Amino acid sequence: MYLRAAILFSLVIFIGNIMANASKLEFTNIKCHAKDTAFLDFKYCFIKSVNRTYKYISLKASLHQVPITNASAKLQILRRFLSYMPITIAADIDVCKYMASKKNLANPMLRLFEDITTNYTNANHKCPYDHDLFIDRLPAQFLSEHFTNSLPLPPGDYGFNSKWYTNSIERATIHIYATIS
Ligand SMILES: *[C@@H]1O[C@H](CO)[C@@H](O)[C@H](O)[C@H]1NC(C)=O
Ligand SMILES: *[C@@H]1O[C@H](CO)[C@@H](O)[C@H](O)[C@H]1NC(C)=O
Ligand SMILES: *[C@@H]1O[C@H](CO)[C@@H](O)[C@H](O)[C@H]1NC(C)=O
Repeated sequence: MYLRAAILFSLVIFIGNIMANASKLEFTNIKCHAKDTAFLDFKYCFIKSVNRTYKYISLKASLHQVPITNASAKLQILRRFLSYMPITIAADIDVCKYMASKKNLANPMLRLFEDITTNYTNANHKCPYDHDLFIDRLPAQFLSEHFTNSLPLPPGDYGFNSKWYTNSIERATIHIYATIS
């Protein structure tokens, strides 16, 4: 099975915490790391605060060995207690298989992946990938709505971590940190 999603026990603990009212998500940091810059490197990777209500992230990765016909990702949401712990939700996505079939959209992590790639990237198409990939102005507000409506998370500090692979070789990590209040 190309998608494995695990909802871990602590989600149950969180259910008592879930707020009925809308949550507010603020980006606190973003870190993009290329494992091998001969394969891929980041041109930019930043959070921008336009004003108090409009904050977004943008990043761009240049691919140096195209075409890419085999890509996958490990996504993990961590909540910070004393350190960041992988306590909530994880998903492994075979990106090329997913883009070819668009199956399993009921899974909340895949739904988030679909919504982000459709609306804010140039990556929502079938493989191969033979061009630079970017996230263009993904707003905190979009994620606030997502985490209110489809994947409620209680207030806290979170890490949204992702690892990116081609042919099962790790190529890059993107870690986004945010506070939900
Ligand atoms: C924040 O900036 C956006 C984009 O420029 C603008 O549409 C919005 O009205 C601004 N909001 C405030 C509160 O200034
Ligand atoms: C984002 O894309 C999805 C399709 O995956 C669409 O249903 C949704 O309305 C879009 N959201 C925004 C804020 O544009
Ligand atoms: C991608 O490559 C990995 C490692 O070679 C392999 O296990 C996996 O089945 C491939 N995925 C597809 C869709 O071919």
